[in-house]
Amino acid sequence: MPVIYFYAISSNTIKSILIWCLQSTDGIFLKMSSGEDFDFSYESLSSVANNLLNRTKHCPKIGIICGSGLGSLAESIENADIITYQSIPNFPVSTVEGHAGKLIFGTINDVAVMCMQGRFHYYEGYPLTKCCMPIRVMKLIGCQYLIATNAAGGLNEKYNVGDIVIVKDHINLMGFAGNNPLQGPNDTRFGPRFIPMNNAYDKTLREHAMVIGRELGVEQHIHEGVYTCLGGPNYETVAELRMLKILGVDCVGMSTVHEVITAKHCDMKVFAFSIITNKCITEYDSQDEPEHEEVVEVGKKCQRILAELVRRLIIRIDNE
Ligand code: HPA
Repeated sequence: MPVIYFYAISSNTIKSILIWCLQSTDGIFLKMSSGEDFDFSYESLSSVANNLLNRTKHCPKIGIICGSGLGSLAESIENADIITYQSIPNFPVSTVEGHAGKLIFGTINDVAVMCMQGRFHYYEGYPLTKCCMPIRVMKLIGCQYLIATNAAGGLNEKYNVGDIVIVKDHINLMGFAGNNPLQGPNDTRFGPRFIPMNNAYDKTLREHAMVIGRELGVEQHIHEGVYTCLGGPNYETVAELRMLKILGVDCVGMSTVHEVITAKHCDMKVFAFSIITNKCITEYDSQDEPEHEEVVEVGKKCQRILAELVRRLIIRIDNE
């Protein structure tokens, strides 16, 4: 006979809320009353990781996240075991067009990887902890590296549509506003309470990527830059973009920063790059406007070169 429990819990904002929780008599979590119907505990995420490991023959050491329009990067994965997000107990589903909602386990050049084809964004209504829970699942599965990709608006005037930006640093604007995926009680089995972020984007991996860019003959189109994530889903105003430029931001998106924080918390090595899908509009008299379709289209056009960059980076990681 299932039992209903009433709890007062703290959400990832400061408010406390009363919720009900339906559990079976042996304690198995069935359903909660509010949107907070996820259990992010170490035990729960370990059971997600075990569920996935039971459904694949691979033991990945590298986790990859495909950004908007970059999903076919996952198609270069061989011997693939494909698992839809819907079929994973206690896993969110991706609601954005251009984000497929599949986990792909397989190999790239004989190196075992797992790839998120579709990520979770804050603007979908998910708290940052929920957006980032797959990163912790990656770590529990055995991934030591995270490769995060995203589509971004180019704020640096030197950047053109189609260019690749190796992220060397970020500005966590949402964190400045008090929203961080690590907020709330800290479980030291994931990582320590306070973590440094000054070496968040692994220097060796960045150097490898620049060398690969030269090997591929795209050195004119590859840069190192500072990324920032805004909550979205709207694109930015001219005044906002001018402010970001003064702050030292080179490219702007709606993801990655909180994923990287979560990965660093659980001691993963991180590499991230942005594909510039549109130029940020910083003039009031411009009639141009950013569009999601354009973002996805440009992402798709650049996929082959990006897949090759990732493939060569993985070979180098494997030789480390
Ligand atoms: N702004 C924010 N996010 C984005 C952009 C942008 O211009 N382009 C792609 N993602």
